Amino acid sequence: MALSPSELDAIRENPYRAGFPLLAANPGIAYLDSAATSQRPKSVLDAEMRFYETMNANALRGLYRLSVEATAAIDAARAHIARFIGASDPAEVIFTRNTSESLNLAARSLGKLLLNEGDEVVISIMEHHSNLIPWQQICAERGATLTYLYLDDEYRIPASELDKIGPRTKIVSVTQVSNVLGVENDVAGIAARAHAVGAVCVVDGAQSVPHIPVDVAELGCDFLAFSGHKMLAPMGIGVLWGKRALLEAMPPFLTGGEMIDSVSEQGAVWAPIPAKFEAGTQDGAGIVALGAAVSYLEGIGMAAVEERERLLAIALTDALASLPFIDIVGPVDGARHVGAVSFNVRGVHPHDVSSILDMSEVCIRAGHHCAEPLLKRLSESSTCRASIALYNDLSDIDRLVNGLESVWKVFNG
Ligand code: ALA
Repeated sequence: MALSPSELDAIRENPYRAGFPLLAANPGIAYLDSAATSQRPKSVLDAEMRFYETMNANALRGLYRLSVEATAAIDAARAHIARFIGASDPAEVIFTRNTSESLNLAARSLGKLLLNEGDEVVISIMEHHSNLIPWQQICAERGATLTYLYLDDEYRIPASELDKIGPRTKIVSVTQVSNVLGVENDVAGIAARAHAVGAVCVVDGAQSVPHIPVDVAELGCDFLAFSGHKMLAPMGIGVLWGKRALLEAMPPFLTGGEMIDSVSEQGAVWAPIPAKFEAGTQDGAGIVALGAAVSYLEGIGMAAVEERERLLAIALTDALASLPFIDIVGPVDGARHVGAVSFNVRGVHPHDVSSILDMSEVCIRAGHHCAEPLLKRLSESSTCRASIALYNDLSDIDRLVNGLESVWKVFNG
């Protein structure tokens, strides 16, 4: 699918890169590993520093000005993040460290609430280990079965697979976008199927929230997990959004400071949400910086982010497909890729590809991408993966192509 001259011009231009200090300081780097972690704009780094420089105190606990300001900043960020994902109630936004922790919270607390012997959790074969191992663990503990939705030859979950969602299904947990294949699942359709049998639907938004508009009301899901560090915010801050009624019914995940209303020698009464799920001192600076990342993305507009990245994904996929020694692992239609494209250089191990590309400062990821069951299903043990964000441009893709040609020459004279 060839891009038009004006589309190519749009991704040749790059109004964003200069605002990302690491990229601005390293003009030679082609950073194509944003699915692993994104770079951060100056406004986000400044917001994190400003927290420590101007309002650093333990939020919620202090009755003095600094603590009150820190609490207000966290509350404001929570409300902002809720609006960003279309949630009407800020208390439904739980701060965690990352998507893995969010999904562990969902699996453990929902599992204890909903799963009994003989029940079933349904996930897809394209799940990241973060949305797979927590369900393996809780199913084993509760005597429940873990059932997989498999893909067709076009890397889609076919309608026939959704028939696996049945009367024993209590939870369906799927990724919106695959971190390996870059394909988007119809999570609204999957959520509707889950609800039709009375099951709860959890969505892993780690690879979607940074790249496309995501609205929990439109998706109709019950939970959405995502990480700050893949959406321009610092490492160590993540979110689990969940519907109030479910969060209120679920037992806590971590216990300790600030998640209680009262404690006696032998028991405790839990605090209302979100505090019930936020034991211990929270990453105030990270939360405020995540709010700044959301402001940055909103300043561009998620529809504009999606459009720029759509063009980049098409250009990337087309460039890879044009190299005769490359096999794309996933759709060859670039328009189906959100963020990530996996591929192999024929006869060359992905680790060697990545190491040789590093010599020309091209950063990609190589390995199983924390999705071993998917790779096994695809008869792959590892792949190379190039992934994009709004700060990439056509020159990054050109540098990848030049680097891959060098890789091929190293192994084939
Ligand atoms: N989940 C991240 C990735 O896919 C680390 O690379």
